[in-house]
Amino acid sequence: MIDRIPLNDGNSIPQLGLGVWQVDPASTAKVVGWGIEAGYRSIDTAEGYGNEEGVGEAVCAAPVPRSDLFITSKLRNSAHERDAALRAFDATMRKLGIDQLDLFLIHWPLPARDRYVEAWKTLVELRDAGRIRSIGVSNFNPDHLDRIIGETGVTPAVNQIELHPAFQQRKVRDYHARHGIRIESWSPLGSGRLLDDPALAAIARKHDRTVAQTIIRWHLQEGLIVIPKSSNRDRIVANFDVAGFQLDADDMKAIVGMDRPGGRTGPDPAVASFMF
Ligand code: A2P
Repeated sequence: MIDRIPLNDGNSIPQLGLGVWQVDPASTAKVVGWGIEAGYRSIDTAEGYGNEEGVGEAVCAAPVPRSDLFITSKLRNSAHERDAALRAFDATMRKLGIDQLDLFLIHWPLPARDRYVEAWKTLVELRDAGRIRSIGVSNFNPDHLDRIIGETGVTPAVNQIELHPAFQQRKVRDYHARHGIRIESWSPLGSGRLLDDPALAAIARKHDRTVAQTIIRWHLQEGLIVIPKSSNRDRIVANFDVAGFQLDADDMKAIVGMDRPGGRTGPDPAVASFMF
């Protein structure tokens, strides 16, 4: 049984979802269909992934009501200005084929462009118009968060950031706890790079689980929202099968020790300026 995490706006999100970054657009409907069949109820996509249509197709074909599903998408980097953001949102909704989005995030802050406050104001407008249930951000550092909160008085419900055992973001997590912002971990398996880590393999063996299941379990026990990606049916099923075991205090302590400088695998949000 996967818990739901309460958000600061009164809504809630399933703690474990399926990420579809790098899932081939041509197979996304099939992959998301497998996920829904396996029990996932939260799907995380983005305009920049190019596979929103596939997610929409799977939602439409799902054997569960739309209201049981939690769909997240993200505003692309080149659309921070209000008019562009409104158009991008409409395009996302057309592709997803749904009436209301559960969660919409600003994908990257792009501080050098400095239009993310305008983008945030537009998301607030869309939420207030009832088109989105919850709004949040992705890859925002505390200084970016301070700015949007300071300029609008609206605190994001979530911030989706890179986070995994080799990059645990402890200081950043304290900031989020103080502000009531829930963290979603992207690349929760370290983009797959942690799967042959010997220390994690030892913990996995102790519980007779896979390394991926062990890492996903760690995110859950840390109170994080987690969205592992897989295009493989068996791995999609296995990654969801994490409710039946518990990491103990020794395991959790050992994983805390795996945090390391340079553990980041993706771009640094403070300087990232790419269009996505
Ligand atoms: P694949 O899609 O072939 O399963 P992250 O979520 O950290 O970005 O990691 C995603 C990567 O990890 C993908 O390359 C994915 O490949 C791989 N992956 C996901 N789940 C598992 C698993 N249970 N075992 C091995 N590799 C996995």
